[in-house]
Formats: sequence, structure tokens, C-alpha cells
Amino acid sequence: MKFDRLLVTGGAGFIGSNFIRYILEGFPAVFVLNLDLLTYAGSLENLKDLPAGSKYEFIQGDIGDEALVKDLLRKYDINAIVHFAAESHVDRSISGPSAFINTNILGTFSMLEAARKVWLMEKNMDETNVRFHHISTDEVYGSLIPDAPAFQENTPYAPNSPYAASKASSDHLVRSYNHTYGLPVTLTNCSNNYGPYQFPEKLIPLMILNGLQGKPLPIYGDGKQIRDWLYVRDHCEAIWQVLQFGRLGESYNIGGDNQPTNLEIVGAICTLLDELVPQSPYIPHHNLMQFVTDRPGHDRRYAMNGNKINKELGWAPRHNLQAGLRNTITWYLENTNWISSIQTQKSYQAWLDQNYSRRK
Ligand code: NAD
Ligand code: DAU
Repeated sequence: MKFDRLLVTGGAGFIGSNFIRYILEGFPAVFVLNLDLLTYAGSLENLKDLPAGSKYEFIQGDIGDEALVKDLLRKYDINAIVHFAAESHVDRSISGPSAFINTNILGTFSMLEAARKVWLMEKNMDETNVRFHHISTDEVYGSLIPDAPAFQENTPYAPNSPYAASKASSDHLVRSYNHTYGLPVTLTNCSNNYGPYQFPEKLIPLMILNGLQGKPLPIYGDGKQIRDWLYVRDHCEAIWQVLQFGRLGESYNIGGDNQPTNLEIVGAICTLLDELVPQSPYIPHHNLMQFVTDRPGHDRRYAMNGNKINKELGWAPRHNLQAGLRNTITWYLENTNWISSIQTQKSYQAWLDQNYSRRK
């Protein structure tokens, strides 16, 4: 295997922690250094059950701290960076965009500078030795009208929210470091992830937790927006394939091949809750669904064309939506301690108040 000493940024968040578990379970020879600031979205609770004897270390720190990142690259002899760390919630980017500019744009810039200085300038490394893999999103492409073809890697960027614009900006920086300095990079742009350990500010875990507690299930606008749902474990597998075998300087779109409307996906969660929690006093959970004021600038539809990663690397998603949702709901039912560690945080309750009390 080419890259076996990984610096994973944002590894205490949702996708990062799933990725670390995927690597340590499946590739025990790989060393993983997790750099995470532990913002509201990151928690070491997400990494409690790593396999015994894993080659793993955690550092609490900021991706914007270039000196720290340079030290880590040298001290741990890192040969690949897998860059997840970001502010990731669109609604928060609307109510407070500045953290998104700092972390997603300036933080990525700082990571690139550290990699350029240590790998290229100090150590004279090239694409045979090192790799910078950047995790991005389908939101950089903007919104699709109903019958438009799915996003391809050459679809022009047209980000609509401060979050999407900050991710688009970071993608451009990553590409420019490849083009200008020859930093060996790869990129992946993926669609909406769901699965274990997702922070319950995002649609699917929020609906599961509200449903279990008999709270309203808030549907923004008319609920006919479409996302391309990807089970997180499938995403982790795709990232690993691109890191090891992807072509240099290239980006790969990753989608789940599941494109329901929000109303359909919340409906599917309600049906599964009815089945999996037969003693619930809130059956039928569908009765909890409630239309609320829409998200400003809400993107209508995303869909990913995954032909490139499929043809070049043989990757395709393994989970259909029914199987993935069932796994996900079962995980939340079995992990009540994890849920209460978040629900008892004042900052989490404050976010729910701020985001939902102003919606009619
Ligand atoms: P998340 O919000 O769950 O986790 C982000 C992690 O980054 C947290 O652990 C947080 O503590 C850490 N972090 C934030 N600022 C940091 C900083 N300055 N320094 C170090 N660590 C910091 O995010 P996620 O949903 O796991 O998303 C991970 C990546 O994948 C992001 O880049 C996001 O844009 C991208 N992405 C996410 C999705 C999705 O559906 N969740 C889809 C496409 C792309
Ligand atoms: O598409 C990839 C993106 O998916 C990632 O880049 C982001 O990091 C990730 O947060 C996600 O963004 P979305 O805005 O699509 O995800 P969210 O879960 O916030 O919302 C999904 C859809 O559900 C969206 O159309 C808004 C709607 N929604 C969301 C919430 C939280 C509701 O109707 N009600 C809600 O309460």
C-alpha cells in the first residue's frame, strides 16, 4: 500500500471518525494521526471503540496552526493528509458565516502551506512519496433543475450558500497548489452522507431523535428538495480508493444513487420507526411531520454522476437507502449514551432554539 502514515484532519467528526474506524479495522498496518480542534461537531465519544492495538494517536489542535501541522508532518513522518476538517452545516453558515471562511478557506490554505513547505521544500518529496487528499461536497456545483443531468466533475462551480462557497474556494486552492507548486493532490466531491455518529443537527439524525421523543419533524419549505444520500461507510471506502489509486490532480464525484425528496426520506424514517419501536406512543410517526419556514437560498436538487470513479477505480455504493437507513436507525437506538452526551449540551439546545424557534 502506497500511503500508510495518515494525518486525518477532523477525525473526531462524523465522516472523519467513520473513516478512521474503517481504516483501523480494515488496514491494521496503517498509522493514523487524528488532528481535530473538537468544536461542537467533534467528539472523542465518536472514537471510543477503536480496535485494540490500533496504530492511532489523537492531537487536539487547529488546522489553521501552520507551525503545529508542520511539526506533525515531520515528527510522525506523515505521507498522506486526508483533509476532512471543516465547518459543515449549511444552516449555521447562514446564521454565522465567518467561522466557515476561517476554517474552510483559511484553514485549508494553512494545511496546504504546511504540506508545501515540509514535503516539497524541506524533504523534496513528490507524487511517489506523498499525497494531499481533500474532501469536498456536491454543493459546490449549485442546484439542479428537475430534469437536468447529474453533476459531473467538469460541471461549472456555482455555490449558493456561504458553506458551499467556502468549500468551493478551498477546492480551488487545493487545485492551484497542484498546478503551481506540484503538490500531489486528489479531491473527492460527495453527496449527503448519513449513518452512525452523525451530529443531530443534520436532517436524518435530527428526524430520528425527534421522532423517538415525539417532537415535531420540521420539513423546510415544501419538502420536495432532493439530495443524493450516501451511506457513510461507502464514502469511506471511496476515499480510500481515491487516496491509494486516484489519478494525481483529479477530482472524483461520489454519490449514493439514492435521490428521494426530503418528504420521502422523512416518511421512510417514520415507517422504520413505527416498525423498529413498536411500543412507541408516537405511532404513526408520520403525524409528527410539520412544514416550517424554508432555508434561505435553499438548493432544490443535487444528483451525482459517479461514472468516473466507477470506471477508473471500480467503486460503487454498496448500500441502498432502505438498508442504510435501517442500519442508521438501529445504531441510534442502540447508542443512547452517545445521544445524551450531545442532547445534554447547552450549546446544542441553544442551536435548536436558534434555528427552529424563528421558523413558523
Ligand atoms: P462534521 O461537522 O461532523 O465534523 C467536522 C470536524 O472538523 C469536527 O470534528 C470538528 O471538531 C473538526 N474541526 C472543525 N474546525 C476545525 C479546525 N479549525 N481544526 C481542526 N479540526 C476542526 O463534518 P462531516 O459531516 O464529518 O464532514 C467532513 C467533511 O466532509 C467536511 O469537509 C465536509 O465539508 C465534507 N462533506 C460532508 C458531507 C456530509 O454529508 N456530512 C457531504 C459532503 C462533504
Ligand atoms: O450535499 C452535501 C452536503 O450535505 C454536505 O456538504 C454538508 O456538509 C451536509 O451538511 C449536507 O448539507 P445539506 O444542507 O444538504 O444537509 P442537511 O442535513 O442540513 O439538510 C438536508 C435537507 O433537509 C436539505 O434540503 C434541508 C432539509 N432539512 C434539513 C433540516 C436540518 C429540513 O427540511 N429540515 C431540517 O430540520
